[in-house]
Amino acid sequence: MKLRLARPCIDCIVYSLAVFIPLATLICISNLASAQSTQPTLPAPIVITGADIRQAMSLNGEWATIVDPYSNGFSSYFRNQITEPGDNKLVEYNFAKSPTLKVPGDWNTQRDSLLYYEGTIWYQRDFSYQPKEHTHIFLHIGAANYKSWFWVNAKKVCEHEGGYTSFNCDVTDAVHAGANFMVAAVDNTRREDNVPTLKTDWWNYGGLTRNVSLIEVPEAFIDQYDLHLKRGEGSEIEGWVHVNGGKSGEDVQVEIPDLHAKATAKVGDGGLAAIHFEVSGLERWSPETPKLYKVKVSAGEDTLEDLIGFRTIETRGTEILLNGKPVFLRGVCIHAEAPYRTGRANTDKDAETLLGWAKEMGANYVRLAHYPHDETMLRAADRMGLLVWSEIPVYWAIQFDNPKVLAKAQQQLDEEIGTSRNHASIILWSMANETPNNETRTQFIETLAQHARELDGTRLITAALLVHNEGNTKVLDDPLGKALDVIGANEYVGWYEQTPAGADTTQWRIAYDKPLIMSEFGGGAKAGLHGPATQRWTEEYQADIYRHQIGMFNRIPQLRGLSAWILMDFRSPTRNLADIQDGFNRKGLISDQGQKKAAFYVLQKAYLAKTVGKAE
Ligand code: GCU
Repeated sequence: MKLRLARPCIDCIVYSLAVFIPLATLICISNLASAQSTQPTLPAPIVITGADIRQAMSLNGEWATIVDPYSNGFSSYFRNQITEPGDNKLVEYNFAKSPTLKVPGDWNTQRDSLLYYEGTIWYQRDFSYQPKEHTHIFLHIGAANYKSWFWVNAKKVCEHEGGYTSFNCDVTDAVHAGANFMVAAVDNTRREDNVPTLKTDWWNYGGLTRNVSLIEVPEAFIDQYDLHLKRGEGSEIEGWVHVNGGKSGEDVQVEIPDLHAKATAKVGDGGLAAIHFEVSGLERWSPETPKLYKVKVSAGEDTLEDLIGFRTIETRGTEILLNGKPVFLRGVCIHAEAPYRTGRANTDKDAETLLGWAKEMGANYVRLAHYPHDETMLRAADRMGLLVWSEIPVYWAIQFDNPKVLAKAQQQLDEEIGTSRNHASIILWSMANETPNNETRTQFIETLAQHARELDGTRLITAALLVHNEGNTKVLDDPLGKALDVIGANEYVGWYEQTPAGADTTQWRIAYDKPLIMSEFGGGAKAGLHGPATQRWTEEYQADIYRHQIGMFNRIPQLRGLSAWILMDFRSPTRNLADIQDGFNRKGLISDQGQKKAAFYVLQKAYLAKTVGKAE
């Protein structure tokens, strides 16, 4: 093992003074990160649309793990720790004897000792594989929070930053026929230049939090495709298919068997084939009729089958038009917190429980906060008929003046939109939540919005903005509103300010002639705590907030949607009121154990009777 003498930094000096270890021999921890990335540059992971429906070998299950708070293992843990009998080699790790963690899953809720753990954990598992000729093999990671590195048979195959989007690493040259071993390092340490940055009002769940698998594709394969209904009255399907390694002139085919529709197109420059074809008898996707069609996409040796709904979404003045008709979004916000067991949500069951509660409440829309959610959630929203607001974690005060941070946010957009672009449920791409109103921030997010429009011109761009007060008037005039199609506004009248009844006299002044969504509102309550409606934390107080809010909403002419904060209580390190919060944000309409609070029924009544919001 070659010692890499790093340039001593302040930590080393303090450290060595403290413990008198000669400087020359010290490997400086903070330089380790840079040491990790001074390896030969690896091919960047790629985005694969619909990776979750590809033929794959799952690598989910129990992985051996080593908790490495000082990130010591970057000099050795990725190697196979085989030692020959009598071999005097010093090896200070042994996966085979190490405890395991489940993948997919956050580590925090799997072991009490890891609930608050922030740092590096190493994962290792063996797998057997028989690679086929003329194929590519990709390691598909549903998500790894926050930074992650991967080795196959001791060969580094990729690294990634960003905790909530999927990525795919080419492991074709590293996988052997027969026995293989894989090692991953995941580090959820919060840093200023991360996205999100140091402070969030949600738990920093670390680990391989979503499905992990090996995907095998032909040498030329479909990595991304976009198929959607053209805006307007007609029934024209349009979009494109990108063939990675595709040659100009080759055929691409798109088929919708149930509509007896088939289209062929030629691969053009850069592997892209443009798709346009008319269909007849199409049933448009909507919350009332969430019709999904089996769609076959093929190019050369590669074929995939996806389930896609076709609908249009656009704005006209202050209206949001779904399939050309005005729609009001009756919704709720959801964190990817698993019901009952808590921790990162990542199963079909988690998705069906959470979205099932939203449907039961009369919702036709959900805001998935504050980061891209799992494909299982989006597929469930497609199936169950829920419109989706999807967001990247540009949350509060990230480093808006740092170009590297802009690149990270753009990468997250590439991965989010590239992976999830064919979900009929998703109608809104949100660029940010509650960011400070200053010029640097505005430029940063305008750049993001432009990037998102280039990636996908078929959906609406939004963000959750802060509002300010002029007396009892709420004023929404953040300049960022210019760059958005739909304005989101977060307000907490009755909780962070005023009393619940304060909403009765609250006016609104909105500087934009655009649709408005109240992207957050509400207050906290401990499930089962009852008392006068004037007593905070009681269900009665929370329900009272909702009653008054509903009255206020019906006095805002351009309001086109609501997403209450929040469907279910969720873990947050900033919520430590004993006996009430105990590490949970209690603004849920339902507790993390599934207890519906009184406010749930207040909102349900208004949503089912459509007595809140403009009638469609
Ligand atoms: C904010 C923020 C949420 C947070 C909520 C709250 O508006 O966007 O992430 O959890 O308010 O204070 O509960």
